[in-house]
Amino acid sequence: MDDAKVGPSPNPTSSSTDHATDGAGPHAADVLVLFGITGDLAHKLVLPALYRLVERGELTVPLIGVALTDLDTDGLRRHIADCVHQAFDADGGVDAGVLDKMLADTHLVAGDYADPAVFTHLADIITAQAGPDAFAVHYLAVPPSLFRAVADGIAAAGLAGRSRLVVEKPFGRDLASARELDAHLRLNYPEDRVFRVDHFLGKEPVEDLLVLRFANTLLEPLWNRQWIDHFEITMAENFDVADRGSFYDAVGTVRDVVQNHLLQVLAYVLMDAPLSDGANDQRDAKHRVLRAIRAVDPAEVVRGRYDGYTDTPGVAAGSTTETYVALTLHVDDWRWSGVPVYVRAGKDLPDTLLDIVAVMRTPPRTLFLGEGQKPNADQVRLRLQPDAGVTFTILVKEPGGGDVAVPVPVSVDFRRVLGPVHAAYERIFADALAGDPTHFARMDNLEEAWRIVGPILDATTPPVSYEPGSWGPDAAATLPGPQGWVELPPTGG
Ligand code: BG6
Repeated sequence: MDDAKVGPSPNPTSSSTDHATDGAGPHAADVLVLFGITGDLAHKLVLPALYRLVERGELTVPLIGVALTDLDTDGLRRHIADCVHQAFDADGGVDAGVLDKMLADTHLVAGDYADPAVFTHLADIITAQAGPDAFAVHYLAVPPSLFRAVADGIAAAGLAGRSRLVVEKPFGRDLASARELDAHLRLNYPEDRVFRVDHFLGKEPVEDLLVLRFANTLLEPLWNRQWIDHFEITMAENFDVADRGSFYDAVGTVRDVVQNHLLQVLAYVLMDAPLSDGANDQRDAKHRVLRAIRAVDPAEVVRGRYDGYTDTPGVAAGSTTETYVALTLHVDDWRWSGVPVYVRAGKDLPDTLLDIVAVMRTPPRTLFLGEGQKPNADQVRLRLQPDAGVTFTILVKEPGGGDVAVPVPVSVDFRRVLGPVHAAYERIFADALAGDPTHFARMDNLEEAWRIVGPILDATTPPVSYEPGSWGPDAAATLPGPQGWVELPPTGG
């Protein structure tokens, strides 16, 4: 697809009635159904998050796990206890009373999602545990190939009308397949009862971008083409694909983290102020800016692959999958026209971090330059991971004679000032249970994101190789210009 805009969705998703659900406000969950309760995602992230919600009194409804498993209910409860202990034994410990409470209200439906009996059994358990009119939140922590089967099974058992579907990523492989999946789900579930997970939207530092921008007046006057020269966004991970070879090889960096996580983050960085903090107003504002982003030009992209990737178990012979990408985005709107956004993301880089740097314009006249010095630009660095905070790099007078300006960081670390934040999956589940869609991807936004990356999906040429532990291929080093990327101090992450 070229950079023609996606255009209005066939089923308009934005509405002036925020948080609307069938015109009657969102249903809070009477029961939580977790498909894939014995899977890896549940093990590492979901079950520990649910334990925290029970601890805080935010999960008070029965939990029904569904999985193809040999475990019985007691076996599942032991498995959950193990997961929770693994997550917290070395980090604050586990409260036996909380865990017992969680396990006592956990139930199991074991079987194949292709078997209709699994869903009639599920319907019976929902009725037994929460009553015949119970409103269920169904969380699909299953591979995408099973999304349709699970959604159809719930509907065939007569449960769709009293359900909210929460669908893990990836939602489609491209614009066309995302639309097909959506059209299929919409046969039984309206848009406001389909919550598409992007766990970055559950990260508090990501949400804080809006607070930083719009609860203050400090940044906003500068946040435009008059004062900002360009943005640099870096999502680096200092580990390789490890045992996820077959998953990752079918996906690559663009699908894995750019189409979803980074474009969602970027929308928060660039969007205009929403009309209110309601879900649809926020998502309308994101939609507006996403529509303004041009589809990526392959000529402005560097795709990389760390040396050794092709030896990973699960990686196909002749694979052309990238483990690194650097690209340039252009935003054709009043605020950002002419302000490029450089994005890079990759595995096996020197650090693990997510940073957004706004590089400011230099002053109109260059005063205070030492011999041979180049003018330095101020920077606003929004640090999202691992330690959320903000660093302003400003120029101050170097001590001693003369008026030479040198850059110094002015920095705040939010955790130190405000204490720890909740994990992303805690937010995701709390909001899914309450029916708040703010931190889920609305379909029109997701369509725009697929449109933007469309031209660089499924590249058939091998990516450029890079040394594990380096900042990616040499060819990407000067993407933002001859000065290169802003140097990011090591985080220890
Ligand atoms: C996932 C990707 O969605 O996000 C992973 O599949 C990536 O490859 C992960 O490592 C990063 O998320 P987080 O929360 O660990 O920063």
